[in-house]
This record gives sequence, structure tokens and C-alpha cells, in this order.
Amino acid sequence: MSATSEQIPKHAGVVGWPITHSLSPHIHQLWAQRAGIPAYYSAFAVPPTYDAFADTLNGLAAAGFAGVNVTLPHKEHALRFAKDASAAAAKAGAANMISFGGNGPYAENSDITGFEKAVCAVATVKKDSCALVLGAGGAARGIVLALERLGVTKTIVANRTKEKAAVIADDFGLEQTDWEDRADAIQGADIIVNTTSLGMSGQPGLELSLDRLDPAAIVTDIVYTPLKTPLLIEAKARGNIVVDGLSMLMHQAVPGFQAWFGAEAVVDDDLRGHLVSILNKRSAV
Ligand code: ATR
Repeated sequence: MSATSEQIPKHAGVVGWPITHSLSPHIHQLWAQRAGIPAYYSAFAVPPTYDAFADTLNGLAAAGFAGVNVTLPHKEHALRFAKDASAAAAKAGAANMISFGGNGPYAENSDITGFEKAVCAVATVKKDSCALVLGAGGAARGIVLALERLGVTKTIVANRTKEKAAVIADDFGLEQTDWEDRADAIQGADIIVNTTSLGMSGQPGLELSLDRLDPAAIVTDIVYTPLKTPLLIEAKARGNIVVDGLSMLMHQAVPGFQAWFGAEAVVDDDLRGHLVSILNKRSAV
């Protein structure tokens, strides 16, 4: 039997360091199964240097991969490696998607739409809102742009390393507050985003008093191990709307699946349930 174009397997993946914890292969495999297509999505551990990143991507492009997602610590490397980039990726200074083919590697940032869609799925951000962003790394840069799109007109950034907060504040026109004063900045915030690794399993907790939190404020955390971080547990107990890191992860995966495998990718409760059961099994080990 001759192979039709429908039967030719397509390959994509995710590169990062570390990468074994990644849920992305599980997301793409479920969508491929639903679509009934021979789509394969693999995880690649790529040491943190630019050279290792570039060598791996050149190899995957030569092997016929359609594209890759890029996670820590390579999101800035992705932008440097790409021949061209979307306006959003260029503005964020970081990319989480590289597509091969066409005129060379093309970088995009679906973390921005991922965050935006995750918030919009459960809440409405009112016009001229104020946001408090904790952290000033690569994730914060995309989220600041997503907040702008959601209608936030004032963002205050707090980061342990002051100099890094100053850079992001300067790049995006944000206000800055000292890390020690982060609880004060909660007053008046309509949306709070933890973009640090604090609260993640194995990391220190995010010490943050929510005493001054507006009951209508939205609280979001990019951490998804554990899924219910202490920040989200406390915010939910106070009656606030919360958005967890898994929602953002699922939504950021959609553009890559559609671009590389050419099929529909839907974020729904079944996908979430599948991922939660994987996380639960992992934490039981
Ligand atoms: P990402 O691309 O996910 O944002 P990153 O660039 O390593 O990853 O940034 C991690 C963020 O978590 C940073 O804002 C970091 O603060 P510093 O800039 O001071 O390093 C923050 N972070 C990590 N560990 C922290 C800790 N123990 N206390 C406070 N902030 C911490």
C-alpha cells in the first residue's frame, strides 16, 4: 500500500532543561489521538547553553520536525535562533514556539495568548484594571503583555532582585515596588500573578499576606506542581476567582498543535482531567 500524505507521521516536541516533568507530550498526544492522526510529540533535554540549543534545533529541523515548543531556560535562546519572529515574541523578548520550514525558523510566543485565554475562560478583567506581577523573569515578560491585552492599564512589578524588576519596568512602562513591600501592593490590585517559582514543589513558599486582597480580584499562579498552590488555596478560600498554571499550560499548547499537526486542539475538562490524573500519580510516587 502506498503511503498517502495523511499517513506520513508528523513530529514536533518540546526542548528544555530540566524537561522530564513536562506535561506537553501528554497534551499533544491526547489531541493527536482525538484527531486520529499520526502525530508524535517528544521531550528533549537540552543543556542550558545557546550552542546546545542551536545544535539540537538544527538537528530536529534536519530530521524533518515541524516545530518545537521551548521552555526554560531557552526562551530567549529561541528568539536569538529564529530567523524571524512574531511581533509579540519580539516585544516579549522571549519565545516558546519555533516553527521550521518556510523561510527558516520562526519564533512565536503563545504564552501570551495562553495566559489571556486561561483568564478569559473563568473571569472578566474590567477595563483600566491594576495588576500586581510577582517576578521579573521570562514568564513575567509574556504575562505583562497578556495583561495589557486583557485591559490592564497599570502593572506593578515586585521582584527579589531589584535590578531585574527595574529592567522589566523600564521595558514595558510598569511601576515597581520592593519585594519586601509586595503585600502592600495587593491593595487596589484587580489581578495578581505569581510568575516566580515560589510555591512549586521543592521550592520555598511564596510568603504573601492576602489580608488586603479585594474580594473581586483574580489570583493566578503559573506554578502547576502542585496544582493547588498555597496562594491559590488561600485566595479561593477567601472567595476570589483563581486561575491555575495548568490552564495556562493547556492554552499555550493550542497554537503549536494546530500549526505543526494541522488539526483541531480543544482545551476542555477531559484534557484537564487527564493531566490532573498524571500529576496525581506523580505525587503519589
Ligand atoms: P521564568 O522564565 O519562569 O520567569 P526565571 O527567569 O528563572 O524563570 O525567573 C524566575 C523568577 O522567580 C525570578 O523573578 C526570580 O527572582 P530573581 O530575579 O530575584 O532571581 C524568582 N525567584 C526564584 N526563586 C526565588 C526566591 N527564593 N525568592 C524570590 N523570588 C524568587
